Amino acid sequence: MMDKLTKIFATNFKFNESEEKVNVEKVLDETTVDGVVKYIKSGKCKNIVVMVGAGISTGAGIPDFRSPGSGLYDNLSKYKLPSPECMFDIGFFRENPDPFFDLAKQLFPGSFNPTPSHRFLKLLNDKGLLLRLYTQNIDTLERIAGVPDEKLVEAHGTFHTSHCIDCNKQYTLEWMREKIFGDSFVPKCEKCKATVKPDIVFFGERLPQRFFMLAEEDFDKCDLLIIIGTSLTVQPFAGLIDTVSPKTPRLLINKTKCGQSSQLARLLGMGSGLDFDSENNYRDVLLLEDCDKGCQQLADALGWAQDLKLLCAPEGRREWL
Ligand code: OAD
Ligand code: ZN
Repeated sequence: MMDKLTKIFATNFKFNESEEKVNVEKVLDETTVDGVVKYIKSGKCKNIVVMVGAGISTGAGIPDFRSPGSGLYDNLSKYKLPSPECMFDIGFFRENPDPFFDLAKQLFPGSFNPTPSHRFLKLLNDKGLLLRLYTQNIDTLERIAGVPDEKLVEAHGTFHTSHCIDCNKQYTLEWMREKIFGDSFVPKCEKCKATVKPDIVFFGERLPQRFFMLAEEDFDKCDLLIIIGTSLTVQPFAGLIDTVSPKTPRLLINKTKCGQSSQLARLLGMGSGLDFDSENNYRDVLLLEDCDKGCQQLADALGWAQDLKLLCAPEGRREWL
């Protein structure tokens, strides 16, 4: 983790320096969706990295975390938690796992279908343009949409497997499903009787090794970064936006504008963030839109409307569901 942070800081330093002193090569003719589409169509954009969050799954009926009113963190009052984040805090979970397992019933994979945004990500891969998809989501909808395992980094873990919090014995999704929906409610290890927890990354836990290993290579190679449906508030995931080359264009598709660093954070070298509004912006593009509509708009402009329609149609989905 320290290595990664050191790299993020070093990259920012380079970025700030280059922004001020060097005229950075402009890749986009214009900082608009049309500019991004033209770049993709030019054939020069070969390695697209996508970063996603809970916003791409709200269309499937899964709440995000921080949207006022509808977000999960505004709807946990019945659990009487010291703070909403305690729901996913490893220290709190060790003391009191009940709230998490109550919620897990509602969020358990299997009850939801991928959205047009997920289908668009699969389409990017089909077109040979997806270098990697970094997701913060634990709903497994990227897999269900057909994005191959090797293209996926589940940065905040997954429900797919579970481990005992004391002896580390591994359990399957099926085992966990039986326990959560059966009588036991809080699943206990068959070996040592401690609580078994799905391999979701809680606050206070380290992200998977795969995240750090692949981020190191992928963000150097990335020649377009697309960010969809995330508030970019949780580190170290959010900091990845600053690790692409200073010339790499970045497109945010989100209902709300986010990812911009404060002046203070910039001065402290904590990430230069996205820059949509300054007159110096030469690479950041904002599509302020529902992400399903935004992905559809992008697909239309790229001439992929029919392909996306096929993936979204029930007959196109059947092999994956
Ligand atoms: P957030 O809830 O923080 O952010 C979701 C973002 O998506 C917000 O900016 C919304 O405006 C936007 N959004 C929601 N629905 C949308 C839609 N249909 N179209 C476009 N935009 C939409 O969720 P994340 O950024 O994913 O971590 O949260 C990051 C992490 O915080 C989660 O992985 C989770 C949480 O604590 C852990 O639990 C470890
Ligand atoms: Zn155990």
